[in-house]
Amino acid sequence: MRPQGPDFVYWRAMHDTRTPASTGSKRLYIRTYGCQMNVYDSDRMADVLTAHGYAPTEDIESADLVVLNTCHIREKAVEKVYSELGRLKNLKARRRAEGSDLMIGVAGCVAQAEGEEIIARAPVVDLVFGPQSYHRLPELVARAKTAHVVHTDFPEEDKFEHLPPPRREVVLARGLTAFLTVQEGCDKFCTFCVVPYTRGGEVSRPVAQVEAEARQLVAAGVRELTLLGQNVNAYHGLDKNGETLGLAGLLLRLSQIEGLWRLRFTTSHPRDMNEDLIAAHGDLDTLMPYLHLPVQSGSDRILKAMNRRHRRADYLDLIARIRAARPDIALSGDFIVGFPGETDEDFAKTMDLIEKVAYASAFSFKYSPRPGTPGAELPDQIDDRTKSVRLAALQDLIARQQESFNQAQIGRTLPVLIDKPGRRPGQIAGRSPYLQAVHAEGKMSLIGTIQPVEIVSAGKNSLLGKIVTLE
Ligand code: 5AD
Ligand code: SF4
Repeated sequence: MRPQGPDFVYWRAMHDTRTPASTGSKRLYIRTYGCQMNVYDSDRMADVLTAHGYAPTEDIESADLVVLNTCHIREKAVEKVYSELGRLKNLKARRRAEGSDLMIGVAGCVAQAEGEEIIARAPVVDLVFGPQSYHRLPELVARAKTAHVVHTDFPEEDKFEHLPPPRREVVLARGLTAFLTVQEGCDKFCTFCVVPYTRGGEVSRPVAQVEAEARQLVAAGVRELTLLGQNVNAYHGLDKNGETLGLAGLLLRLSQIEGLWRLRFTTSHPRDMNEDLIAAHGDLDTLMPYLHLPVQSGSDRILKAMNRRHRRADYLDLIARIRAARPDIALSGDFIVGFPGETDEDFAKTMDLIEKVAYASAFSFKYSPRPGTPGAELPDQIDDRTKSVRLAALQDLIARQQESFNQAQIGRTLPVLIDKPGRRPGQIAGRSPYLQAVHAEGKMSLIGTIQPVEIVSAGKNSLLGKIVTLE
């Protein structure tokens, strides 16, 4: 992989299109909560509405249409949406007093799960629509001008066939790295999780559709793609010959695209890490050595109650096989503390598993009972104080592991994809293969290239290095 030549115009293009739009008759403001798939979806909503006369703005005060793209995964995420709707009620009242108006839409997983209830609880909302309806937005917005609209069906047609591709300058504005949804929904039914209800069953996009979108993104300047799916490693897309391709096959196809330097994927389930995918980590140079592989708990009793369908030993064995294929792989995970019935002993097993794996980073959460999921009905719900104590201990351990992983990079020279100016003048910033933020002294013209950077110091969340000249 050869770094591209200097291209300062590239960063200007990114920068200029990020400023609030001054053209377009109507202004659109989208606020995104939750996971990367929501980030991807928000961009696609913006693409649809831009094609219908809306111009994105970063100033909520001047917006004509505000869309909250919501997350239902934990109660806290839902509460955030309702408090934002409280603020928007005031904004709408001010706008009406000034003789203009504001349309408010709620999208995403709260919209899908709560539908009409949202309008009952927050009548300020004009439009509620689920993740499978984004291609119908122009029509839904038009209808919402005269009456409340709620659209949470799973339509027959494939939304991806109807979503317009983003314009080249918009792709540039979004940066060198992009998300690409390849799979949606989940059939696993972990007992804590709302996703199978909000996003429905597993659906994989056809190979040709994914490939075409990847090629468009790369042609516009994207150099790193993260393939997204609620259960991405269960991907099984049809190719042109009517054969099914797994995620490993898809990665192989995409790695042949000229100009695409880096591939990642998230989020995976341990049960779907098949041998091909493990081998791909050793075989594909473009596949970055960083894997997000949630385990949730280190106790067999809790894993069973969560319906994870594997034991702790299976996970540890899997990690060993992945490390055999790619010894330098960095691992990340998700953990839930305080699942119903979790004892001190169960929690100690989670801590022990974390010690054994040694993560580069991880996300951890207090269990939040979600309406309609089996976990919410279980006896022995854990009190909040116990959850807080366990979460603090777990996060402390992960923070120490993350710091020592970062420290271990000192003295190494890492290929860094430079994608923006750094915090300080004269600095540029980018990402290591392990997804660490790296800062170094360097010219702006290096943005859009991969540079070898010798790491000289490491903090909790980022690395500092110096660019090694190749001559
Ligand atoms: N409570 C707490 N955390 C949850 N997650 C999913 N559902 C819940 C819940 N009910 C966490 C899991 C998952 C991540 C996306 O969110 O760790 O992997
Ligand atoms: Fe939130 Fe999960 Fe839906 Fe993503 S899939 S938006 S994290 S509830």
